[in-house]
Amino acid sequence: MNKKIEEAINAQINAELWSAYLYLSMAANFHAEGFGGIANWFEVQFKEEQDHATILYNYLISRGGRVELKAIDAVPTSWDSPLDAFESTLEHEKEVTKMINDINALAMKENDYATQNRMQWFIDEQVEEEDSARKLIDSLKMIKDNGFGLYMFDKELAARTYTQASPLQTAE
Ligand code: FEO
Repeated sequence: MNKKIEEAINAQINAELWSAYLYLSMAANFHAEGFGGIANWFEVQFKEEQDHATILYNYLISRGGRVELKAIDAVPTSWDSPLDAFESTLEHEKEVTKMINDINALAMKENDYATQNRMQWFIDEQVEEEDSARKLIDSLKMIKDNGFGLYMFDKELAARTYTQASPLQTAE
């Protein structure tokens, strides 16, 4: 396997696991703040990020690459408000989008068609990730400090359920 691509995918596995850790930390923060629904939303996000790492892990192995798991950096542990956490989420997802786009650009340069194909799923996924964070930010900007609004927001996020990412479903 192309070494530059192998390295970039290993870095992406690390970034996805860092993302999982970040969202689990956000979930813990919101449990402590009494927002169980928001915590649930971030726990689902935590599982999705682990799926993203697993998809890349499986992909690297299926291409004859070598997975190298590096240390996962520490994550923040508290946020000022739900709005602060979702704004951080959006900023983080934009960085992840950039990393995915960079892998895709590298795969194009190196004529690695299989990696371009795999990255296409992630490119679509990132559109969804950014869109959902943006919509929640819009809602929170409308709610401001309205207690009932925050109560309803938390209730809505309590309904989010986890579905295993589609590339993992077909792999089984
Ligand atoms: Fe795996 Fe949220 O990007």
